[in-house]
Amino acid sequence: MKNISINTQLTVFESLSELPQNIQQLMQQAVTIRKKAYAPYSNFRVGAALLLDNGQIVLGSNQENAAYPSGLCAERVAIFHAGAVAPEAKIVAMAITAASDTNQTQSPIPPCGACRQSIAEYEFKQEQSIPIYFMGEIGNIYLSDSLKNLLPFTFDKNFL
Ligand code: THU
Repeated sequence: MKNISINTQLTVFESLSELPQNIQQLMQQAVTIRKKAYAPYSNFRVGAALLLDNGQIVLGSNQENAAYPSGLCAERVAIFHAGAVAPEAKIVAMAITAASDTNQTQSPIPPCGACRQSIAEYEFKQEQSIPIYFMGEIGNIYLSDSLKNLLPFTFDKNFL
């Protein structure tokens, strides 16, 4: 018997001004689209913005449904849209922000498990890491250089 350990790493930024200019702009777009989320049930709005290597920016916000599981998270709305409109392009950065209508989110909101698995698929597909920046409404911004930091020991096509 032996134990194995998997290390994961994140970078913490204290304010948006510490981020590269293009990532600040990307996060700003995520904030703008977050405010347009369709979230009448949770009142929890999430915005996601993807920067593609062709310069295109693809946005998404969470889309809820009266039949709750039929709704979709912002990250998957964005990444599936990118996969549909620009299947050959690579995603070079992803910015995520989440805010509640009822209380202020002051710490970074990480993508849910299903979104991590979906992002993993595109990271494998493009054979290039996707840096993921995520934050709440205010406060620190976390950077994960690759989806692998958020979902170590990832299930992928190699296991099929
Ligand atoms: N949500 C996202 O959009 N992304 C996540 O990673 C976590 C959760 C949405 C789904 C639902 O509309 C609301 O936030 C509350 O769970």
